[in-house]
Amino acid sequence: MKYSNRLTAMQFSPIRKLVPYAETVKAKGTKVYHLNIGQPDIKTPKGFFDAVKNFDSAVLEYAGSEGIPELIEALRAYYETYDMHFDYDDIIVTAGGSEAILFTMMAVCDPGDNILAPEPFYTNYNGFGQSVNIEINPVTTYAENGFRLPGKEELLARINDKTRAIILSNPGNPTGRVYTKEELDVLAEVAKEKDLWIIADEVYREFVYDGLKYTSCGQLKDVEDRVVIIDSVSKRYSACGARIGSIATKNKGLTGEIMKLCQGRLCVPTLDQVGAAELYKTPVSYFKEVNEEYDKRRNILYDELMKVDGLICEKPSGAFYIVAKLPVENAEDFAIWMLTEFCKDKDETVMFTPAESFYATPGLGKNEIRLAYILKQEDLKKAGALLKQGLEEYVALNLATDKQ
Ligand SMILES: Cc1ncc(COP(=O)(O)O)c(C=O)c1O
Repeated sequence: MKYSNRLTAMQFSPIRKLVPYAETVKAKGTKVYHLNIGQPDIKTPKGFFDAVKNFDSAVLEYAGSEGIPELIEALRAYYETYDMHFDYDDIIVTAGGSEAILFTMMAVCDPGDNILAPEPFYTNYNGFGQSVNIEINPVTTYAENGFRLPGKEELLARINDKTRAIILSNPGNPTGRVYTKEELDVLAEVAKEKDLWIIADEVYREFVYDGLKYTSCGQLKDVEDRVVIIDSVSKRYSACGARIGSIATKNKGLTGEIMKLCQGRLCVPTLDQVGAAELYKTPVSYFKEVNEEYDKRRNILYDELMKVDGLICEKPSGAFYIVAKLPVENAEDFAIWMLTEFCKDKDETVMFTPAESFYATPGLGKNEIRLAYILKQEDLKKAGALLKQGLEEYVALNLATDKQ
């Protein structure tokens, strides 16, 4: 039987690719510290569960394709606190930020079109694009200057007659970059000049450290009609399993087009929406506490990484990821070695994500990894120490270069 070329060409999620190795050693009793996936261990606010428990209906009906009114209203009110003023029908509820990204890509691009993305970028942009014949067109950013956006000329140079949009996550996954208003103004200028959409993936909006001021693309002037805000409860409220995201845009033509896709998939799970509506009412004090915790975790992991010989990384200012360059030729080989060989005579190891798949430019990121600081402080310390020990052994065994 034949499978579609689209899907045979599509990547498996690189974030999940090494999971079978981890499962194998875990079955043998090895503890694996997971720094590979952005699954926070912070408690989901209780309001979610209470709302689901109190749901009182004899039939679990389809919801409207755009989402339930309580959730759309809660989202609208949430955006007001960011000085972003959306009408009720500017917001569409989706099955996670993932569906929001895919639907937006499908609505603004035809097969063969491309979307400009600062790389390294959230690797699933590639997967979503591949599934509908849309290419990610990378513009490289560098750890050495904190992954700041390139200037206008460089952005313009990457755009061609098939470029339809710019996508960026802010704060960045995997970079942790919090883009400044000045950088976003340049992006807006480019978008206007080249008639592009701006797909602003802001699922980490609240996770900003060092007192930095956060600017949302939804606050930029003169581009309101070309900005699409992607949101999700997954990270913000530590509710990844709820599968609730959203699209918000003032471009009513676009919401109209996207609604066709929403109607085709009928609706997003009703009970998850009921719980999520409560999440968006969570008091801001919640974020203060959570951010303090992530800030501590960031510092702990960064300090541990700084003890590792030959490792290079910048301290990120947002989200909960760090990209680190290792003194190895192939970070994926090292990641697999940590899950197969390193732990043979130990009862613990650490798992992280090779960063090559966060780049679209061939050859970039081969010696880089992404670490998520989503574990408890003592576990992060332990994981950092294991990484150091592993890397030292790996280098001593002369495995760090492809020559072996
Ligand atoms: C930048 C970014 N966007 C979107 C998503 C998708 O999140 P979800 O589908 O869980 O809402 C993720 C998940 O890790 C992410 O990191």
